Amino acid sequence: MSLAPILSAFFMQDDFFMAKSKIKTHFVCQECGAAAAKWQGKCPACGSWNSLVEERMTTTNVRNAAMTPKGALEPQPLDSINAEKLPRIQPVSAEFSRVLGGGIVPGSIVLVGGDPGIGKSTLLLQEAAQMSSEDNKILYVTGEESMEQIKMRADRLGVASQHLYILAETEIETVLNLIERIKPGLVIIDSIQTMYTSVLESAPGSVSQVRECALRLITLAKSSATPVFLVGHVTKEGFLAGPKVLEHMVDALLLFEGDREHFYRILRAVKNRFGSTREIGVFEMLDSGLKDVLNPSAVFLSERQTKTSGSTVICCMEGTRPILVEVQALAATTKFGYPQRTTTGMDVKRLILLLGVLEKRLGYHVSSMDVFLNAVGGIRIDEPAADLGIITSIASSVRNREVDAKTIFIGEVGLGGELRSVAHIESRIAEAEKMGFERAIIPSGNAKGLKEFKSIQVRAAITAYEALQHAVQ
Ligand SMILES: Nc1ncnc2c1ncn2[C@@H]1O[C@H](COP(=O)(O)OP(=O)(O)O)[C@@H](O)[C@H]1O
Ligand SMILES: [Mg+2]
Repeated sequence: MSLAPILSAFFMQDDFFMAKSKIKTHFVCQECGAAAAKWQGKCPACGSWNSLVEERMTTTNVRNAAMTPKGALEPQPLDSINAEKLPRIQPVSAEFSRVLGGGIVPGSIVLVGGDPGIGKSTLLLQEAAQMSSEDNKILYVTGEESMEQIKMRADRLGVASQHLYILAETEIETVLNLIERIKPGLVIIDSIQTMYTSVLESAPGSVSQVRECALRLITLAKSSATPVFLVGHVTKEGFLAGPKVLEHMVDALLLFEGDREHFYRILRAVKNRFGSTREIGVFEMLDSGLKDVLNPSAVFLSERQTKTSGSTVICCMEGTRPILVEVQALAATTKFGYPQRTTTGMDVKRLILLLGVLEKRLGYHVSSMDVFLNAVGGIRIDEPAADLGIITSIASSVRNREVDAKTIFIGEVGLGGELRSVAHIESRIAEAEKMGFERAIIPSGNAKGLKEFKSIQVRAAITAYEALQHAVQ
């Protein structure tokens, strides 16, 4: 008698038994979302240390989780795709609208990130309350605060609405069911890290949970043309907590920046599938909520002391908008050890490069000095057009002579000490003129064909040395 049938029956039975109780565990990197079969100290995909966390998925759940919607079965020729352009929904705040690229695109999914307490919930709540109407119901799902807390914040912000619905819930299935039922025109999830699906066993905030919940919401957004805003946390290092994958999944990623000690907040588009990522929105945080700042240059120059050395004003382009910013430098002889180079709101490598130019091409002995550089007001400057202003402020501090307060400095400085032309020169000068500046020092390359300005005198310089002659005597 052959043993084969008995053996195969045994294995079939075993197989059957296994299928029922088989629990798959895998280790998921909390940084990048890569999965590995066994625990390792270092993620093989992104190289971060100690980021793998065990997550369990039952086999049936794996299938459920993979149940993403089926797209069109047949590929279609590009020309025959009907892309009916739905009008964008306008938020109340013009600054918010600008960062979004001119309003909210129906069916888009936008992630709003930022440090705790920076104002994410405030902005979304005040916008939601003001935008909601009879035909545009808005659902605000909070997983972090109670409904009473939200109500208290709304009272403080002075907003009220019959058509803004608040739900304190963290299970994504319940949220999705409610959305199906009330069909809101906009959904806000505060925050995505608190949401969970009961399909997965891992804790809320883990990569699998965040990814799965976001995926469900994206499916909803795309299939019903409902825009969805997700609030995301940012870790101490400034990265979005949890998965990098989330950044890839969303249509736009807006980051709230700014010092909590300052009143000003800057909303910046880091990624936007429907608009420029160069635009910023500037807000002021008041007790009554976030207020649009219509004239950012005035704000950034408001506390300027004109009678100190080491201070200059530059003009940086934020998207289509020129903004005047004060740059402060402090250079002091190093008393001990290695000279310090510290920046706030600027790249320290750029500072080191410009210090090299000052030392070698302009004869300033900065290599034995500590240099501190600060972009005032919590804004970030990452444009080479700021170079001339930075060099001038350092030179002014080294010489301890103040720079003329009514002069604006525009220009990129090359390694040879030459002044290189920059883009958007006319709008930069026009902004300075509007703010009452009387002189602009610009690269000679930009001077050709420049239009006439009424109340600002334009001086062109070929080298940074020449520009400094005009500025610091
Ligand atoms: N009277 C007030 N009570 C509470 N918070 C206030 C008040 N006035 C201003 N705020 C600001 O509101 C911020 C809270 O913002 P919030 O929207 O909850 O931040 P996030 O959602 O980004 O964590 C506080 O950091 C504080 O600066
Ligand atoms: Mg919040």
